[in-house]
Amino acid sequence: MLDKKVTLNTLRAKKGKEKIVAITAYDALMAKIFDGEVDVILVGDSLKMSFGGENETLRANLDEMIYHTKAVCAGTKYSFVLGDMPFGTYATKKMALTNALRYYKECNVDALKIEVDSNKIDVVKALCTEGIAVMAHIGLKPQFMRFEGGFKVKGKNEVEENELIESAIAMQEAGAFGILCEGIKASVAQKITQSVQIPTIGIGAGVHCDGQILVWSDAFGFFDAFKPKFVRQYCDGKDMLKNAVRNYANDVKNAVFPSDNESY
Ligand code: KIV
Repeated sequence: MLDKKVTLNTLRAKKGKEKIVAITAYDALMAKIFDGEVDVILVGDSLKMSFGGENETLRANLDEMIYHTKAVCAGTKYSFVLGDMPFGTYATKKMALTNALRYYKECNVDALKIEVDSNKIDVVKALCTEGIAVMAHIGLKPQFMRFEGGFKVKGKNEVEENELIESAIAMQEAGAFGILCEGIKASVAQKITQSVQIPTIGIGAGVHCDGQILVWSDAFGFFDAFKPKFVRQYCDGKDMLKNAVRNYANDVKNAVFPSDNESY
């Protein structure tokens, strides 16, 4: 359990020394449970799938992200909170600045994450120049799911490998404080991690990244629409809760809840 607020410097200092632990959360209730147990809480646009029941992340909008990020920040004291810029909000440098400044200021969030490749170097540079801490998300970019016709693992050939390593270096030079590597061949994520001085956090990118992140509803067995290969499930949340709600329903139906002790 952490006893001090995680800052950018804490994360930087862990590079190559101690693994960074990250998880998503979308509300204050979960954030309070995860706070201090993990270094980073990401308010990911994955909330559209895990929380919103959709099959992709593209329909998340800035107002929704701000709403959820405020809730997570309200429930968090120690962990570093990372907000996720939704699809279409950083299409140009100008849009990125307007939207990121609003998100950063309204939520009091520690940093923002954007899905990038080498075409977005100017956007990352512009945000960092304004004092916004940026994490660059490379590899499998869920916001490109429609464009690419699915969730595609990256780094499978030399061209992709070189593009990923070059992007990561360019993001570091543009000012990004970290790289999120999603759906990247483990050997390539290892090379990315060795090629930059900033921390890498992986999801479906092997063990060599400087840290790992999972979507909370995958990690704790609440999301069962599909189970990606990279997910390790740490409890059977859905079944646990289903049993609990059945017990509650039975108690109500059998008039054994509330008891005298639970009544005024
Ligand atoms: O939106 C999200 O939760 C993410 C993670 C998959 C890293 O970007």
